[in-house]
Amino acid sequence: MLDSNFLRENNARHSWQPMGHPGECRDNPPPVIVEAEGNRIRDLDGRQTLDAVGGLWNVNLGFSCEPVKRAISDQLARLPYYSTFRGTTNDKVIELGYALREFFAEEDMGRAFFTSGGSDSVETALRLARQYHRIRGETGRYKFISLRNAYHGTHFGGSSVNGGYRFRESYEPLLPGCFHIPAPYCYRNPFDESDPEKLAAKCAAALISEIEFQKPSTIAAFIMEPVLGAGGVIPPHRSFMPAVREICSAHGILLIADEVITGFGRTGSWSGSRHWGVKPDIMTIAKAITCGYFPFGAAMISESMAEIFESDKTEAGFIGHGYTYSGHPVGAAAGIACLEETVRLNVKDNAAARGDQLFAGIKALKEKYPVVGDVRGGHGLMLALELVSDRTAKTPADKATVERIHARVYEAGVMVRLSGHNLFLSPPLVITEAEADEILAALDAGLAVA
Ligand SMILES: Cc1ncc(COP(=O)(O)O)c(C=O)c1O
Repeated sequence: MLDSNFLRENNARHSWQPMGHPGECRDNPPPVIVEAEGNRIRDLDGRQTLDAVGGLWNVNLGFSCEPVKRAISDQLARLPYYSTFRGTTNDKVIELGYALREFFAEEDMGRAFFTSGGSDSVETALRLARQYHRIRGETGRYKFISLRNAYHGTHFGGSSVNGGYRFRESYEPLLPGCFHIPAPYCYRNPFDESDPEKLAAKCAAALISEIEFQKPSTIAAFIMEPVLGAGGVIPPHRSFMPAVREICSAHGILLIADEVITGFGRTGSWSGSRHWGVKPDIMTIAKAITCGYFPFGAAMISESMAEIFESDKTEAGFIGHGYTYSGHPVGAAAGIACLEETVRLNVKDNAAARGDQLFAGIKALKEKYPVVGDVRGGHGLMLALELVSDRTAKTPADKATVERIHARVYEAGVMVRLSGHNLFLSPPLVITEAEADEILAALDAGLAVA
């Protein structure tokens, strides 16, 4: 490793950070993470912290998962790359495709189209959704509907269906034909509705109204995260996604479940769709597919959609889409090992138990600290604390306050994610009960400096 003075002097000077202002990052350089073990990371100053972010919602098995590391290094030695563009393939991609079909059999997912990450997976899903309708002769179906507050990555397609203005505004005009309905976000919504079930019904009614307004025969797909993640950690009422499924089916609209965060156990179920008892038409996955150790993802396509593509006898079924790294053998090898470990350790059950523990803990913190306006969780290891300066007016807490709290939590030994005026928790799914208590104690210390 280069010496620490060099790293400190050059931190945030020669590269820009995603989701950051370059000038601000340069003036306030971030902690430099240099090592990790178990569920803990270590920075350049030697400070060890428990990673309650789980990398970036992806390091589900912690940082020391030897079988995944071994699979990557073995594969690098044997075949570090070969293309899966038509004409060749590789052994690992065949094996992973088979394993994923089995793993997602309950959702009826029949095929995988491999990508390099979540944004690629979303882009793939949106493109294949349009193509599906064209193959069936419904060429007018090109529009997409999604939820405000949604996050679907940063490609032009994904940002067009994203909810937050921060991911959209600077890059407009975006894709034409993308429309948004209110998210089932109890704390803030245009219906002034705080009852989750009633709100779910109102959002579902808004979907029907938007579909009717746009004309059903113009809409290709509705895309949603089963539990909204980066847009605020918003778990809908359990009636919402089944209602969306019904509405989509009734209007010939495909349902894309963006499972980039919720896939592989984070909600306490193997997928977010399974959590709500729904079978989508396409599922986008990434992140935990390789525990974050290798950039990789996939769009999973339902058996019935696959049948339409595969039985097509014209050029319409030709998939003019793909990435140099689609089906990368090292990523595929990591995915196979990761899936085996994910199932062997049955991480979904621990995610559910530790999620309940953390949710009870942050609810108690809300009682103690007025700066906590809302807490969200209750579905595995996706939790949020929304910070406010005035509970009645729900005024978002100012930047200085949230940054002070965040810094204090870090000093107290825990990394949490700061996003706007929210603190997010998405620790590895293998955290222990004692580690969950550590997270709560650090949050307690942080909120005390509000
Ligand atoms: C639900 C969802 N979709 C898509 C993405 C984009 O994934 P990536 O950052 O790997 O491109 C993310 C990333 O956080 C996500 O949370």
